[in-house]
Amino acid sequence: MKKWTLLLALGCVACAPEGAKSPGKFTYDGYCATCHGATGQGDGPIAADLAVAPADLTQLSAMNGGTFPTEDVLTKIYGYPGRYHQAIMPEFGPVLEGAKTDWTSPSGEVIATPVALLELVTYLETLQE
Ligand code: HEC
Repeated sequence: MKKWTLLLALGCVACAPEGAKSPGKFTYDGYCATCHGATGQGDGPIAADLAVAPADLTQLSAMNGGTFPTEDVLTKIYGYPGRYHQAIMPEFGPVLEGAKTDWTSPSGEVIATPVALLELVTYLETLQE
């Protein structure tokens, strides 16, 4: 019985229409997977050709004592001057520009943040091992 439930669940994932993807996964698959890999492990198709290995995005929580470092991840993807990754990873600010919403940082600061960026980071949180 359990086996059947599992098979059904897998079948559903495989046959889900493209539109059923979460918006964050859509962005990830389109802009991040070439380097970071389909499941975020840093093993994308062009990873081996880069001078700096893409980060393993499944370990962000583990590397932060078990808590997903939302603010840090938002910053690394979207960037603020001087707080970027080391130049290999492209800048995604323009790609994620669009409707903004108020996001409250752990320190209580309210920051107008693109909805698409929050969706992407929410998706990354689901990849944590
Ligand atoms: C051209 C290859 C490339 C693409 C495309 C790319 N990255 Fe990266 N990314 C890297 C590399 C290389 C690093 C590690 C070195 C660095 O920080 O620059 C990195 C680092 C990161 C980090 C920091 C991880 C840590 O340990 O703090 C995050 C988060 C991240 N990427 C998310 C993303 C997301 C989300 C996307 C898509 C919007 C993306 N990356 C697209 C190459 C890429």
